[in-house]
Amino acid sequence: MKTKTLGIGLVGTKFMGKAHSNAWMTAPRFFDLPMAVDLRAVAGREVASLAAFAQRWGWRCCSDDWRDLLDDPQVGLVDVCTPNHLHAEVSIVALEAGRHVACEKPLAGTLADARAMRDAAAKAARKGVRTFVWFNYRRCPAVAFAHQLVKEGKLGRIFHVRASYLQDWGGPSTPLLWRFQGKLAGSGAHGDLNAHIIDMARFITGEEVTEVVGALEETFVKERDLVESAGGAIAGKGARRAVRGVRKGKSTVDDAVLFLARMSGGGVASFEATRLATGNLNRNQIEVNGEKGSLKFDFERMNELEWWDHTLPARMRGWTRIMCTDAGHPYAGNYWPAAHVLGYEHGFVSQAADIVMTLGRKRPVVPIPDFADAYETQRVLDAAVRCARTRRPVRV
Ligand SMILES: NC(=O)c1ccc[n+]([C@@H]2O[C@H](COP(=O)([O-])OP(=O)(O)OC[C@H]3O[C@@H](n4cnc5c(N)ncnc54)[C@H](O)[C@@H]3O)[C@@H](O)[C@H]2O)c1
Repeated sequence: MKTKTLGIGLVGTKFMGKAHSNAWMTAPRFFDLPMAVDLRAVAGREVASLAAFAQRWGWRCCSDDWRDLLDDPQVGLVDVCTPNHLHAEVSIVALEAGRHVACEKPLAGTLADARAMRDAAAKAARKGVRTFVWFNYRRCPAVAFAHQLVKEGKLGRIFHVRASYLQDWGGPSTPLLWRFQGKLAGSGAHGDLNAHIIDMARFITGEEVTEVVGALEETFVKERDLVESAGGAIAGKGARRAVRGVRKGKSTVDDAVLFLARMSGGGVASFEATRLATGNLNRNQIEVNGEKGSLKFDFERMNELEWWDHTLPARMRGWTRIMCTDAGHPYAGNYWPAAHVLGYEHGFVSQAADIVMTLGRKRPVVPIPDFADAYETQRVLDAAVRCARTRRPVRV
């Protein structure tokens, strides 16, 4: 019997709501955790389907008002899976109520919101309250392994980071979801996708982005069908038949942002995020080139890490494809025997496990970003936008 229990209150029931419900439910089964996990309550706006969601995913109760979660004294952690404009409000109220908070990325839609969250987290930390941000790709075994290899000095001095996160669901037939509305999302592909690769670059290299020297942002699709008049929400599924008389609204976010940056170790980096790179479904890629070797990761082949050992004699050099499913790789040993591969959901399960480890005063397998850490990523996002708009380099 575990003596302590962590009660979870979840806000949001759709894409991330499902991923996190599964994570909280599954983590105690694959990891030996210092606390039990209790799925206390879930809040969302899908009133008609809320109760069914709660029952299906094992939540004790549900509400259409997220503030209700805080009435339950057993809720020790609030998990925020809402659109970005709500991250600050929900997180800050929960922190002030003495609850730990695990918030989805990007930390917020705006730098001002992110700063307020960072400050609220610092204040709450004085009372032992913790914050976490769901940069889930850190917990792909291959990415966590890349972080470990760099930390062990296997790459030596880092010269290049080349990161791109390419999707293709944001074509003209995709309606005006919240993701295309600046007031709700803050930005488009930038905050959604560049946030992940900035975090991965910082995590793998252990370095900070110090300056954005050039950037561009582009909105290819200026107007989109309003979701209501298009006959209901469509979760980013492309091709729909044209409907006569559909009302249109303005897209107020970028579809793509590219930028060039300098890293604190003297290396240089490029970042690209887009939702219109046809043929690339969820291609989250990063390559790091160091003095002693290089690493390459592509989420579409998420169980693999490519490794180039530059210390070998030239005639022996070549890319090595490492299946990161061995018990010696981070997280992999908690799941299946070698080469019985992991999927998208395992990153969330592993993060839920690491959150419970942290709250139970054990070490996570690899570091989890808190609000202060995610704020650094947000500063880079903000610098890139300012650089694109002023056409001037911006120091971070
Ligand atoms: N870590 C990742 O890889 C990843 C992937 C997708 C999305 N995200 C992030 O997760 C967050 C949610 O994205 P999503 O894809 O799940 O969106 P979604 O549209 O699928 O779901 C949003 C949920 O928020 C709920 N919601 C909205 N307003 C609310 C309110 N006032 N009170 C309570 N609930 C409310 C909705 O009911 C819905 O259940 C975003 O910040 C997004 O950037 C992260």
